Amino acid sequence: MKEYLNEVIDRKGTNSMKWDERFLQEQFGRGDLLPLWVADMDFKCPQAVIDAMMKRVEHGIFGYSFRDDSYYEAVINWYKKRHDWETHKEWIVFTPGVVPALNYLVQAFCSPKDKVIIQDPVYYPFRKAILDNGCKVVYNSLKMENGYYTMDFDDLKEKVKDPAVKFLILCSPHNPVGRVWTKEELIRLGEICIENNVIVVADEIHSDLILKGHKHIPFANISEEFAKNAIICTAPSKTFNLAGLQMSNMIIPNEKLRESFKKVLTRNHIELSNPFGIVALMAAYKEGEPWLEDVLDYLESNVDFIQGFVNEKMDQVKFIRPQGTYLGWLDFREITKNKKELDHILINKAKVALDGGYWFGKGGEGFARINFACPQKTLEKALNRIEKAIKE
Ligand SMILES: Cc1ncc(COP(=O)(O)O)c(C=O)c1O
Repeated sequence: MKEYLNEVIDRKGTNSMKWDERFLQEQFGRGDLLPLWVADMDFKCPQAVIDAMMKRVEHGIFGYSFRDDSYYEAVINWYKKRHDWETHKEWIVFTPGVVPALNYLVQAFCSPKDKVIIQDPVYYPFRKAILDNGCKVVYNSLKMENGYYTMDFDDLKEKVKDPAVKFLILCSPHNPVGRVWTKEELIRLGEICIENNVIVVADEIHSDLILKGHKHIPFANISEEFAKNAIICTAPSKTFNLAGLQMSNMIIPNEKLRESFKKVLTRNHIELSNPFGIVALMAAYKEGEPWLEDVLDYLESNVDFIQGFVNEKMDQVKFIRPQGTYLGWLDFREITKNKKELDHILINKAKVALDGGYWFGKGGEGFARINFACPQKTLEKALNRIEKAIKE
């Protein structure tokens, strides 16, 4: 385990959404909580990124900035090296974040009252992006058996028949249940969507955060046919802890889909990037890999730590062991399925801030999501508090 990742860094007073008392107060009704919610890490990002940004800061002029060829090369080389996926500069479309991109995608491919499929329980901004843009959500809920989540293909086959359904948002790997989808699962989903003219928007923001024994398959790398029907959301933000820099790249091999999407971006004047984001992304993709390997080892040991703690000290709680992401899904249903009661235990008794399972949709009631991208000491403190609150 890499010692430098054990450092507990005070993030209070840094405008951190995760740690700032005002945000905690707004979301949980109190500010004095130990936060393991919002999906960013409590680790410092790679030193190469800090150095590149320092150099840029020292220049002292922060004018309008564009992305040159070396930016695109850094993205292309990363996906080739890490995922054996060949991409091209013209496929890559910059957006200032994946969530903004999802909103623009709804604007690009749907008319009011059109429908988009999501697989709940799932990252809640998916639902919001659809509803906020005047469209309807269709739920193809995941199935769970003995703590293992799978897709419901029979249900999907029915739902895609509706001509109002324009696209499906796939979360790969899946936040919050931590599944890294197998090639077979992705092929089944992709074929059903192609047969019914439903585009697949694959949010692969967590694709570099894969735990031992699992492999991420880039959806668009499965076949040319899949690539033509897909829009892949990528970013260095989860991988290298750069979420605040708002840098993401949509990879869209199909020219027609790409042009429709770009039209919406042009209409909203989404064009330039933050100069710090540009240098940070390039440094991360070019030099951040050893840091990522350290972080992956650390996350693995945190997963073991949670598993051990839950097995030993919390018999009524189940830990859905993630295959990817740094988000754990805790099943409290043996204690209570009532969301208010579980909120009360976690917020008022344990004084921890976890994402309520119900935020992710109906299937999340009785669950909570824990962000374990933090020093083990922080994790231990949170788990001790939860254990004590349950015992009380
Ligand atoms: C699946 C998924 N997509 C997108 C995001 C956020 O993306 P961005 O910060 O680029 O808007 C998150 C953050 O937690 C996420 O889990």
